[in-house]
Parts: sequence; structure tokens; C-alpha cells
Amino acid sequence: MTPKKLKSPYEVMQLMIEILDAQYPAHREKGEGIIQFYFFYGNHDWICYIKVDEIHLEFYTGEAENPTVTLRCHFFHWLDLSSGKLNPIWGMITKRLKFSGKISFFKTLPKGDFSVNICDKDDPCSTFEKNAAKNWKRLKSVIIINASPRSVNGYTEQFAVRFAEGMREAGANVEEIYLSGLRIKTCTGCWHCWIRENGCVFDEKDDFYKLFEKVNQVDMVVYALPLYVDGMPSILKNYFDRSVRRVYPYISGDTEKMRHPRRIDRKNQTMAILSICGFQEKRQFKALEMHFKAIAHNSHIPLITTIFRSGAMFLFNNPFFYKPLTEILENMRKAGAELTLTGKINRKTKKKIEQKITSKKEFIKMTNYFWHDKITSQKDSNDY
Ligand SMILES: Cc1cc2nc3c(=O)[nH]c(=O)nc-3n(C[C@H](O)[C@H](O)[C@H](O)COP(=O)(O)O)c2cc1C
Repeated sequence: MTPKKLKSPYEVMQLMIEILDAQYPAHREKGEGIIQFYFFYGNHDWICYIKVDEIHLEFYTGEAENPTVTLRCHFFHWLDLSSGKLNPIWGMITKRLKFSGKISFFKTLPKGDFSVNICDKDDPCSTFEKNAAKNWKRLKSVIIINASPRSVNGYTEQFAVRFAEGMREAGANVEEIYLSGLRIKTCTGCWHCWIRENGCVFDEKDDFYKLFEKVNQVDMVVYALPLYVDGMPSILKNYFDRSVRRVYPYISGDTEKMRHPRRIDRKNQTMAILSICGFQEKRQFKALEMHFKAIAHNSHIPLITTIFRSGAMFLFNNPFFYKPLTEILENMRKAGAELTLTGKINRKTKKKIEQKITSKKEFIKMTNYFWHDKITSQKDSNDY
């Protein structure tokens, strides 16, 4: 692969004329003749012309014999003129554009009209997307995607299993999937999944597509993840990168923040986040929450609730906090049941899960004691 270079004025002109040529058949002002350009740009003069006949526009470099009209100007002034930003009369008065010959012949060039809407996939926010809890139906099927690289050995799992238990008690069919155990190749940004019918180049080579199909069947996907560097672990980010095929490449202007229309016809699915982190403050999750809100908007899947449990590792490793830990885990179960039945987690339940455990000062002292012990004893991470 060769790295991309900034296009030269000739290459820009070539592309521009290809676009205008495609629009030329529908253009009313046709004619026969030559438009000659002398552009200055960088340290060069760029000399080129457009040959116009009743059927086509064609681009050539160099000088033509007997041009119908000639324009001498800076290349950028031509770009301004051709995009309607520079009025030709004003361009002449200010000496930015120097024409000679039959100026009216420029009318044979179409205006570069992109107003023909070739995307018929308008997809505004549905009432469900705007307020999923209001139109709630008890969850029947749920997938919990555990995105902890430590999989079943991590603390994320401890919270996720309780949550899953509660959901099952409330009647949902829950499957937990461990991302770290799947082979999911990194998205290479080739756009294959957007422009070809047969999906991603890796569909036959890794586990992603099976997961993607499964995920599209359920009522809710719960993303259970540890906070990594203020965001999500890379395995989960890659899962979302590989999921761009969920939407079309087209863009619809139906929402204030632009997005692509929905491609996967699985309406009324929701998502939830269950995230844990090392530091004690809940504000550590701010960037992650914003990121998920953007993902929810772009994928047309409402983010129905978040559970953020800070200081997770500390909770599990400090014998003095066994009581709040038990209370938190019990409320995780409750939260799972409440969410399944009502689309909401009771405020009291959430407060118990996200409760503050100790003062900042104590937290720092205890955490540093913990790490000092691990460094001096060289304990393997599976033990904590
Ligand atoms: C690479 C890495 C980055 C982390 N980044 C953060 C962070 O930005 N903020 C935070 O509070 N905790 C951070 N943590 C701590 C984890 O969120 C925390 O230890 C969590 O309990 C790990 O979950 P697990 O046991 O399921 O692996 C990080 C941990 C790792 C390994």
C-alpha cells in the first residue's frame, strides 16, 4: 500500500470534471468548445483545459488551440468560483479572476449539484428510542458481554453474575459471553462491510459474525467492563469498531447530531453498562459514559441504564469492607431483577450499589498499602 498524498491541482480538476461529467446529461446549457485554465499554485503554473461537446466534458493538461474562453487565476480562486463562493463579477473587479473570450461559455459547466438524494433511508428517533422505559415490555432475552480481559477471573464477573442472577429470577433468559475468549480480529478500516453485500473480510476467519448475529436477536445487551485508561478495554472498542455494519454508510439528517441510518432491523433493543474501576470516585466514569451515549445514539440502541461501581478491587481485597461488599452484590441481583421487569433500576438500589465506602484519605492509604504488599511479595494477579 502506498501512503496517500495531497492531490495536485490536475488531480483535483480531473476528479471535479468526472463528477460534473456525470451530471452533464441532465444539464440544460450544453455547447461545444474549450475552457482553458492558467492556474498558479505553489511554485508552479498549472495549465489545463476542459473540452466540452453536446455529450461529455473531458479534462486535459496543457494548452488547447483556439479556446472558447480562458481563465487565469490562483487555483483556490477557481475553486471558490466553481463552488459558488466567489461571484465572477466581483472576482474580475478585485482582479482575482482574469477572463478572456466568451465568458458565458462557463454556463456549460453544471454547478456540481448533489441535491439529488440517493439515500431513501431516513431513520428518525423512534418513540422507543426516545423513552424506552416508558414503552417497556419485560425482558425475555439478554446477552451480557463481559469485556474484562481477565474474563471469569476478574471482579467485573463478580458483579455481572449477580446481575445475571437477578435478571434470570425475573424471568429473562440470560447468556454471558466473554469477549477475551473469542477470536476477533482488529478492524482494518477497509469499508468492505459497508460497500459489499457479503460483509466483513474476516467473517469466515474469526468469531465476530456469530457473536454479531446472536447479539442482534436479544432484547438487551449489557456491557460489563472494567474501566481502562478512562475508557473501555481495547477488546470492547474493537467489538464496536467491527459493529459499524449495524448502520448504512449513508447519512440521514433526521437527528441534531448526524448519524447513519439503521441497517440491522432489530428494533426495540436496549443496552446497559455495568462498569467497575480502581479509583474511588464515580466521576472516573465520565468519559466512558459520554462515549457510550455516543455509541447508543449512533447505533440507534438506547442506553437504558448505567451502573458504575468505583473502587471495586479495593472492596474485594479489604476485609474491613466485607459488609458493604455483600450489600452491594446483593443489590446487584436486585438491580438485575428490577431492570428486567420495569426498564429501570430503583434509585435506592442504585444508591446502595454506588455507595461511597470510605474517605479519600483512607482510600489512598489503604490502596498504597495494598500495592506495596503486592510489589514486595510479587504475587500473581490471579490472586487479587
Ligand atoms: C490497563 C488498565 C488500565 C486501567 N485504567 C483505569 C482507569 O483509568 N481508572 C480507574 O479507576 N481504574 C483503572 N484500572 C483499574 C481497573 O478498572 C480495575 O482494576 C478493575 O477492577 C479491573 O477489572 P477486572 O478485575 O474485571 O479485570 C485499570 C486497570 C488496567 C489493568
